[in-house]
Amino acid sequence: MSKPALVVDGGIAKAGLLEQWLPEETANITPRIVCPVNPTLEQVQQGVDQAKEHGCDGVVIIGGGSAICMGKAIAICLVNPGPILDYEGNEKLHKTPVPTICVPTTAGSGSEVSRVLVLHEHGRRQEIIVRAMGSEPRVALLDGQLLVSSPRQPMLDAGLDAVTHACEALWARNRCLITDALAEKALETFLDRFPTAINDRDPDALQDIIEASSAANLACGNTGLALCHAMNTAPDVPLAHGYVNGCILQAVATFNRPRMDERHQKLIDRLPKMYEEIRCSGKFKDGECGEKNVELFVNASRDHPFRKNNVRESSDADCYDLLRQSGATVAAAA
Ligand SMILES: [Fe+2]
Repeated sequence: MSKPALVVDGGIAKAGLLEQWLPEETANITPRIVCPVNPTLEQVQQGVDQAKEHGCDGVVIIGGGSAICMGKAIAICLVNPGPILDYEGNEKLHKTPVPTICVPTTAGSGSEVSRVLVLHEHGRRQEIIVRAMGSEPRVALLDGQLLVSSPRQPMLDAGLDAVTHACEALWARNRCLITDALAEKALETFLDRFPTAINDRDPDALQDIIEASSAANLACGNTGLALCHAMNTAPDVPLAHGYVNGCILQAVATFNRPRMDERHQKLIDRLPKMYEEIRCSGKFKDGECGEKNVELFVNASRDHPFRKNNVRESSDADCYDLLRQSGATVAAAA
């Protein structure tokens, strides 16, 4: 690429971190497209328009899951005529996207090693998923140093999303020896290293978890996701994706445990200790997830392929029960 657009996470841009991270000769890359958390379709299109105006032929992405997905959408729309919504689903592109280079600033989504992009548009029952070969970044630079000054809560949410990706790969129906190898190593790494990484910001532990989050995505990207992500797919729930996963993970793990291999049971049995060490209750706070959100979660999961991919079949009653166990307020009739 000779004329990249730079897509950067809003929080990083605001904190002035980019100026510290970028070498001088790249500091003036334009356009610099700032990505908010969960960008809307309109914001994504504005990014596309900016990149087109500048004649860009590639995208450099610095940020977490939202920025990576926005950057991938821009790379697609620079060479495909429609708005990104035209490509929802599997392999609908006319042309291979322009190349992307990705520098993740969270140990979380693992989107830097994935051909999938996810957008959350209000008013829809489920999220928008675009799967397209060539959307995976050509290069992903995994640098744990970038996590040293990450604020605690977003780092916790991102990390618990990655832990959930690893677990879902272990209880997905489509798992195999190769995905097991990736998911086991990713989960083991988080169980061992997440507390030191988040509490002490130990550089080696930070590097371990950023690599483990990519491994977790390589695993779940091949197995497909499962029950946690089936419920956690409603764009109108005003809670962060990783936060919700962190709140429902342990209940879903207990639900799936009887159908899992003994080796994997031993791994998920270590989750409560990890939650304790990262000082996270692992449940919704009182009143935080009310009946309306619970309905959105269960509605979104109905007919969702992720729910069908879960090793243990679940009824709506099971989903209500799992959300109740996770601290959500569930209507008495549910
Ligand atoms: Fe996720």
